[in-house]
Amino acid sequence: MTDKQRAKEKQAGITRRDFLKYASASAGVTAATFALSKSVSGTLPATNPSVKEQFLHGHPHGVSAESQVQGGITPKDFLVNYYRPPRDPVTGARVFDLTAAPQSITIANGVQFPAWAFTAPSGGPTVPGPTLRVDEGDNVLIKFHNADKHPHTIHLHGIHPADADGVFEVLNAGEDYEYRFKAEPFGLFPYHCHVTPVKKHIEKGLYGAFIVDPVDPPVGALGVRPAADREFVMVMNGFDVDFDGENEFYTVNGIANYYLDNPIEIGVGQLIRIYLVNMTEFDPVNSFHLHGNMFRLYRTGTRFDPDPSVTSVPPTDSRWLYADRFAEVTDTVFLGQGERAILEFVPRHRGRFLFHAHQSEFLELGWTGRFNVV
Ligand code: CU
Ligand code: CU
Repeated sequence: MTDKQRAKEKQAGITRRDFLKYASASAGVTAATFALSKSVSGTLPATNPSVKEQFLHGHPHGVSAESQVQGGITPKDFLVNYYRPPRDPVTGARVFDLTAAPQSITIANGVQFPAWAFTAPSGGPTVPGPTLRVDEGDNVLIKFHNADKHPHTIHLHGIHPADADGVFEVLNAGEDYEYRFKAEPFGLFPYHCHVTPVKKHIEKGLYGAFIVDPVDPPVGALGVRPAADREFVMVMNGFDVDFDGENEFYTVNGIANYYLDNPIEIGVGQLIRIYLVNMTEFDPVNSFHLHGNMFRLYRTGTRFDPDPSVTSVPPTDSRWLYADRFAEVTDTVFLGQGERAILEFVPRHRGRFLFHAHQSEFLELGWTGRFNVV
């Protein structure tokens, strides 16, 4: 922290560190309550002695908001909500419609954030924006409409022509643009606005995940990516609710502590695949840690190589984890801004297992969730 920032915080009367102190002292009062009290009165809320019971496994537990917008999709929906339009019968292209617009969204119980958000026919506006999904080799057409008064673009990662890169063709209020490209290579990518100051346009909410599924085994590979029993998209992000250039909340898929209060139910022996994208602004890295299990890690999702000599190993045997020479096997991954990875694991034990950032600060500020293995 710079002296200038310190002075600013002193002037504001409260620091993010004060919040952490407070949060660990009385965890049941969530970050939401804190942020509200901070913005309304600038004083700390009263301590509730019963909140101790709300601790789970030593982690703060609160009641998170159900959805970001009235009638909008919940983070539970977001896990499996793909925007995958059918191929156009004439052109064969997958045609997407995306709109950027200002939208007040809920990021924790009772906490609103004045976002810039993407909307699609699949849902929204949400932060993160809709998960776009295509097959490798698909012709993609993204029709983008800027319904905000600020200029925006859609910048995609991956391989594509310069005029589909979403940097120099800046759309002013009310303007439209069409991005055309062939989806390659297969993998997991972020998309986001690329108008300067980029950090502002990202932290306000203009980003999402883009999945390109492999169709044929790539050269040298031994098979296609096996079908998973469950697939989940998880976009890690932060929210700067007081506009001081630091995040006060960290979430996966938009609402603090949501999956702690609304656990994700999975089954013993199921192949679980997570598409994990880090779109956190301001902090150089974010992380994902899974309790009681280890996962195979495919950075950027551009590699896989099931080895037929070991596919006979049942996934309930830990040798399964090593049946892939391109995968790393771990329970924790750190990702820089814009980095992403595909995680695969097969739960072997029933019960409650947390997943959360392995930076305790992020965990306490909302980035924590739970799998219920049944
Ligand atoms: Cu923008
Ligand atoms: Cu980027």
